[in-house]
Amino acid sequence: MAKFIALIPAAGSGSRMGEAIPKQYRLLAGKPMIYHALHTLCDTTRISTVCVVLAPDDTEWLQHDWSKFSGKIRVFNCGGATRAESVTNGLKALYAAGYALDQDWILVHDAARPGLSTILVNRLLDQLADDEIGGLLAVPLADTLKRADDIDRVIRTEPRERLWQAQTPQMFRAKLLLEALKKAPANITDDASAIEALGFSPKLIMGDAYNFKVTYPQDLKLAELILQNYSIT
Ligand code: CTP
Ligand code: MG
Repeated sequence: MAKFIALIPAAGSGSRMGEAIPKQYRLLAGKPMIYHALHTLCDTTRISTVCVVLAPDDTEWLQHDWSKFSGKIRVFNCGGATRAESVTNGLKALYAAGYALDQDWILVHDAARPGLSTILVNRLLDQLADDEIGGLLAVPLADTLKRADDIDRVIRTEPRERLWQAQTPQMFRAKLLLEALKKAPANITDDASAIEALGFSPKLIMGDAYNFKVTYPQDLKLAELILQNYSIT
């Protein structure tokens, strides 16, 4: 039977956060940011392995205690120059170590989305386990959309009907994901884009606002507030 394997790309530098340490290690609710997503993914019983992809020159990982997750996580220092490269290298490492087979499901989740809940992960697994292609968590756009010119004047209001914001996890079969990433255009920022470039249509599964990506310094307070409502051990 196909396994469910999580893969967390955590090899970014967090340049938009503007801090000395990469944002995935920044403390949130008393733990490094990545700890929260690891906790949720390791807590999901159907997920067999959680793979963490670090930068080859990472100096932070070993400064923290990850023993709580030791039965389930596998750490690879094989991150690349882009998120897509980090995911590709992580997937190859999973294959090489014998953890992943072609038909296994890979759930790629950003280290910078600490607000992921087990409810969302289970929803994704329930709704996609029998899917032909796979899919991703996403939320329908709530705000009115404006198209701007180069001096930030509104050109027009864009219809927001059927527009969704992509989140993670994004879940695809190992073989299809690897093939898609190998052929993907260089500028993709998520895994689904690579699958779309092959002509497939990933399924959108309802996420929630708590699962937002921590990107800028002003996101930290909101993430803290969300995490205070979760019981973290
Ligand atoms: N990521 C990665 N390898 C890279 C770039 C990003 O593994 N070369 C990971 C990040 O660590 C993060 C996720 O991909 O968990 C989403 O990326 P993003 O939010 O853009 O993080 P950073 O690239 O670190 O931040 P920035 O773009 O602001 O530099
Ligand atoms: Mg980035």
